[in-house]
Amino acid sequence: MKPNSIQSGFAVASLLLFVVSQTSAQKFGDAVLVHEWNQLEFAWPSNAEKEAAIQNQTYVPERSMLAGIKIHKDNVYVTIPRWRWLNGHPVVLAKVVNTTGKAVLEPYPSWAAQKQGDCNALQYVQSMEIDPNTDLMYVIDTGVIGHQLSLCPAKVVIYDLKTNSQIHKYEFPQEVVNRSSVFLNDIVLDYINGTVRYLYITNTFEQTIVVYDLQTQSSYKKAHPTMGLEGNGAENITINGVTYTFPMAINGIAMSPDFKYVYYSSLAGYNLHQVPTSTLRSKTAGTAGIRVVGRKTSQTDGLAHGNKRIYYGAIGLNAVYFWDKEKDLVDQKIGEDRVMMTTQKELKRDNRTMEWPDTFAFDEQGWIWVITSRLQIYWVSSGLPVTGDPFIRVWKIYVNETSYLNRANERTVDGNNGAKTLSPHLVGGVHIIVIISCLSIFSTAWSRIC
Ligand SMILES: *[C@@H]1O[C@H](CO)[C@@H](O)[C@H](O)[C@H]1NC(C)=O
Ligand SMILES: *[C@@H]1O[C@H](CO)[C@@H](O)[C@H](O)[C@H]1NC(C)=O
Ligand SMILES: *[C@@H]1O[C@H](CO)[C@@H](O)[C@H](O)[C@H]1NC(C)=O
Ligand SMILES: *[C@@H]1O[C@H](CO)[C@@H](O)[C@H](O)[C@H]1NC(C)=O
Ligand SMILES: *[C@@H]1O[C@H](CO)[C@@H](O)[C@H](O)[C@H]1NC(C)=O
Ligand SMILES: *[C@@H]1O[C@H](CO)[C@@H](O)[C@H](O)[C@H]1NC(C)=O
Ligand SMILES: *[C@@H]1O[C@H](CO)[C@@H](O)[C@H](O)[C@H]1NC(C)=O
Repeated sequence: MKPNSIQSGFAVASLLLFVVSQTSAQKFGDAVLVHEWNQLEFAWPSNAEKEAAIQNQTYVPERSMLAGIKIHKDNVYVTIPRWRWLNGHPVVLAKVVNTTGKAVLEPYPSWAAQKQGDCNALQYVQSMEIDPNTDLMYVIDTGVIGHQLSLCPAKVVIYDLKTNSQIHKYEFPQEVVNRSSVFLNDIVLDYINGTVRYLYITNTFEQTIVVYDLQTQSSYKKAHPTMGLEGNGAENITINGVTYTFPMAINGIAMSPDFKYVYYSSLAGYNLHQVPTSTLRSKTAGTAGIRVVGRKTSQTDGLAHGNKRIYYGAIGLNAVYFWDKEKDLVDQKIGEDRVMMTTQKELKRDNRTMEWPDTFAFDEQGWIWVITSRLQIYWVSSGLPVTGDPFIRVWKIYVNETSYLNRANERTVDGNNGAKTLSPHLVGGVHIIVIISCLSIFSTAWSRIC
């Protein structure tokens, strides 16, 4: 290849880049409805097995409801907790796949991993986290079917998404997670020196944050009044004119991208709380530094921290909101240890299609994903009512940022605990893709142009 053909190759690449950025231009707040279901459908090995499972009631279709979501590359992973009944939930962790043009849930990593009563399998999964730097999925398993039938201890399971295999399992001792009162709800990862060191998990029924130290493979818990019910009627959530009572404690949890602060909130609460990771990383540090940073516009289930903002569901408003923390840090000329949540903005609201914003996820293209599910109606009914109107939706909303975990392996090396700031890279990613695609077609018909 002659040198001047390489130069013209890059000229074409720049032209393609221009085209790509023009066609994929998104505005902050643009929302796309990715999936919606009246009832979830699973990828059964055969129709006969599905029918047999319906016959013996290991599958009762209206009982399956989504809770957790995480994105990895182009894959969407979801959780389906064994929430309210002792049977009828065949699958607890799944990947969304396309079968004959429909989005169905394929059990992840296998059907065997979903087997109720087998303590090597998953029993009750509300949430998981995926580390984009290592392709590992961290799954929390409450172990109690329908919050009544304790068949297995609570545990953490780690899957390698590259091989779809389990690489680690840890069962919590009863002193840390009591089998008679456990509800492991949500999880964030804490990076130190380039690797994930701690998992922080909210335990709603025990009103604690559970810490699992991956290095020593040991765990402990932190309890504080801010992890309980707020009182003053915060357990009553009014959605489209109807009031529902949810006396549920600590639920959503989020990690700052510098791995210095964890944020959390109770479902029965308006307050958003902050705890320094220096407190959580030490078994003996008690609950030092816990503080209220402000009051949200409504009660919240899931929370998520991108590399700039904190997002939360405003359940009573059928909306997703965010705290513009960067703006408040600048306006208040103060550190994150003292900043107050002043600037809260609506990201997206819809009274019909965004009831009960539940869990969030980020992809690597600048979108935040959220499940909206009408959980309040599922909770007071005998499963998902069949009304013809979809009850479960998966949205993605353009926010031009990525997860707190983005490049955490690079940012936290050499004891540099996230102090290195993130450089803009979303547009850079497009550059690289386009140049590679032009280079890869050098040898074909395009070589005449490139
Ligand atoms: C119910 O039927 C399914 C599908 O044939 C089978 O795999 C499962 O073992 C059965 N469970 C019980 C409890 O009978
Ligand atoms: C499934 O199909 C939809 C619509 O045809 C498409 O946008 C999406 O990328 C597909 N997802 C997967 C995982 O193949
Ligand atoms: C677990 O909870 C039960 C019921 O509240 C209690 O009797 C038991 O002592 C607890 N176990 C531990 C190890 O704390
Ligand atoms: C919350 O709801 C409960 C049950 O409906 C009710 O008894 C209570 O008075 C409500 N609390 C407030 C402060 O509105
Ligand atoms: C959504 O519901 C609220 C009351 O819950 C109402 O004030 C608002 O006007 C509604 N928005 C639309 C677009 O209907
Ligand atoms: C992280 O690395 C720094 C510098 O290399 C070292 O001083 C520190 O002890 C390490 N921290 C942990 C928790 O391993
Ligand atoms: C996304 O963020 C980058 C860096 O913060 C900024 O330069 C760019 O204009 C933003 N793009 C959009 C579409 O908002």
